[in-house]
Amino acid sequence: MPHTHSLHRIRVWDLPTRSFHVLLALCVAGLIATGEIGLIQLHFWLGYAVLTLVLFRLVWGFVGGHWSRFINFVPTPAKLRAYIQAVRTQQAPHSIGHNPLGALSVLGMLCVLLIQVFSGFFSDDEIANTGPWTAFIPADWVEMATEYHSEVGKVILIVLIVLHVGTVLYYKRIKNDDLIAPMLTGDKVLTTETQASRDTRTSRLFALAILVGCAYVVYRLVNLA
Ligand code: HEM
Ligand code: HEM
Repeated sequence: MPHTHSLHRIRVWDLPTRSFHVLLALCVAGLIATGEIGLIQLHFWLGYAVLTLVLFRLVWGFVGGHWSRFINFVPTPAKLRAYIQAVRTQQAPHSIGHNPLGALSVLGMLCVLLIQVFSGFFSDDEIANTGPWTAFIPADWVEMATEYHSEVGKVILIVLIVLHVGTVLYYKRIKNDDLIAPMLTGDKVLTTETQASRDTRTSRLFALAILVGCAYVVYRLVNLA
């Protein structure tokens, strides 16, 4: 290999972002399982965990490592069009952070998760357990929320997850672009020197403090009544 093309190992996904992703995937899998089985108490706890994680990610999108920040991956419509055009003609460049389409799916996933959690807050399993906010609205709205939560939102979320995992596998198998290893190890090996995400002990402790703050916010939301 010629020395003119030296390779650079760049930290793209900081540890907080990677931990967020693993924990989110585990909790969401657990939520679908406990929802279907009817393990509702555990379901509630996992739902509160997901809300904590999503709130954390929204904050981290402003103060996290370079490639985790929304301003560094949410595309303008023009960039999005250019990228879609490039994908069509098989010339899309490998992105460093999320590619423009991936960025949209990240935002979509976070929105759908938030809606799922809050519809859960208003849901009632009609056996023994009710979400923490059911007393705030009329009974027929609770019925609508529950129907949305268990018939509509659930399906939208599962479709998004299937698309998500499918796309990641497509990038690996067909486009020969492994997105999975960087989401696990944090690093991408690139031919150009680029901005790395900060991922130090201090930034990780900072993330932990934000997470604790988000957990406290969720605690207060759950105990509003
Ligand atoms: C319930 C399951 C899952 C959910 C809800 C989920 C959600 C997400 C979210 C929200 C992100 C954005 C990460 C961020 O910027 O913070 C993401 C990225 C990513 N996820 Fe997942 N994920 C799930 C399962 C998986 C699985 C099973 C894989 C592995 C096959 C995977 C691979 C990835 C990869 C590689 C990225 C980064 C994509 C990129 O480079 O743009 N995810 N996921
Ligand atoms: C991302 C988060 C969540 C996901 C993915 C999720 C998913 C599900 C699923 C798949 C079901 C079973 C639906 C069915 O009967 O087919 C369910 C039921 C239920 N969930 Fe969630 N859930 C989430 C969050 C929450 C939260 C935060 C609460 C309340 C605090 C909640 C309360 C309930 C209740 C009460 C039911 C029973 C509804 C019924 O009997 O039809 N969920 N959920």
